[in-house]
Amino acid sequence: MQPTWALAEIAGDLVEEKRVRIGLVGFGTVGTGVAKLICEKANAITAKMGVVLELGCVVDLDTTTPRPVTLPDGVLTSDLNQLLNDESITIGVELVGGTTIAKDIQLQMLRAGKHVVTANKALLAEHGAELYHVAHENGRCLAFEASCAGGIPIVTALRTGLAANEVTAMYGIVNGTCNYILSSMSSKQEEFAVALAQAQERGFAEADPTLDINGGDSAHKLAILGSMAFGYEIELDDIFVQGLEGVAQDDIRYGQEMGYCLKLLAIGEKNAEGRVSLRVHPSFIAADCSLARVDGSFNAISVFGDAVGETLYYGRGAGMMPTASAVVADIIDVALGNSATTFQHLQLKPRDEVASLVEPIDDCVSRFYIRVMAKDEPGVVAGYGQILGKNEISISGALQHEGHGPDNTVPVVITTHETPTRSMMAALKELGDSELFSGEPVCIRIVDIPEDKDL
Ligand code: HSE
Repeated sequence: MQPTWALAEIAGDLVEEKRVRIGLVGFGTVGTGVAKLICEKANAITAKMGVVLELGCVVDLDTTTPRPVTLPDGVLTSDLNQLLNDESITIGVELVGGTTIAKDIQLQMLRAGKHVVTANKALLAEHGAELYHVAHENGRCLAFEASCAGGIPIVTALRTGLAANEVTAMYGIVNGTCNYILSSMSSKQEEFAVALAQAQERGFAEADPTLDINGGDSAHKLAILGSMAFGYEIELDDIFVQGLEGVAQDDIRYGQEMGYCLKLLAIGEKNAEGRVSLRVHPSFIAADCSLARVDGSFNAISVFGDAVGETLYYGRGAGMMPTASAVVADIIDVALGNSATTFQHLQLKPRDEVASLVEPIDDCVSRFYIRVMAKDEPGVVAGYGQILGKNEISISGALQHEGHGPDNTVPVVITTHETPTRSMMAALKELGDSELFSGEPVCIRIVDIPEDKDL
């Protein structure tokens, strides 16, 4: 049994309080949530973590619109210099968003000697390497748990929780808007535009939802998570991105008939040669796998480590309080000194060393779902069989119902065994050019998430 005096000493260490003053830039939705947590939960946080959080300054151009939080007197200002020049403020939180002014603010805060906490995924995805470099130069840390998957502590899991592992693969549902749309289309047979309007009404979608829908937001998050998982400086250009544009109710229904559920996945996979495939695209996954059960605006990331096997992280990926939860967790970690240690060891292999380790999409091997609108006449089955066979693509399933669509055409759905993307692209061109089929074929990747049954 442990002697009681030792426990008392340990407890003594833990109750020694650290006091930190925080400067917040951006008093919008997430900024308001962070201010609420700091102002309203300070005592509980002190009791649990031994840090006293004080809001020294909140900077926003709009100092008049009422927010649902009461700030201490004199804290709200429109002058960033008030934060930069206040030496008692050691942590600066950037919640402005975007990649221009926000970058400038982060650089100014780092150069003024503040540690920086941010939720800014676009900025880190585009300029992360430069910002990490400036932080290191100034002996400060940059913490960004809130940049990916809102309240889910996935960055911490990758940085420390899975530190003993080589990450071999990760599969993430990291955009709540897209997941909400696909869930509504799957379970309520909503049309795409109706489901998107609902996501906007509920506040998951960005003000301009283009980046949600076109996969750009998921790619930003994959660039950050992939860097943490694989230890590379990943650039957005390394990531193949296909969004939800063109996803049709029919394909969701045919996929369901064949045992699949459609999700927009952000994928990082290390192949046998050690190359990493990084991609965001609509993905048919087995309807009975864990990620298929992640519905609505929820996010989830499945990460495979060579020691641990599969781990799954689930929660709210957006919104005021979930994102604020991650920001405040970072603030506490910086205050405790943990972030300084982990950030000091964040050494990503630079671009020039890793460019050849990123697998080009043409080489990426996958199974595929294809839908063609076939003319209902002799030779159609032989026609697609011949085109796929010629391109060395093996069919694993096919589906055609009786009855006609418009112009005497009938939808034919084909699933394939694994094939390189370049072969599939060649076959799709031939299918599109063939007189046996009308319009362009629809093509969606089938992703077989590995099963971890053996541990
Ligand atoms: N628009 C994003 C989403 C918010 O839908 O997930 C969080 O980044």
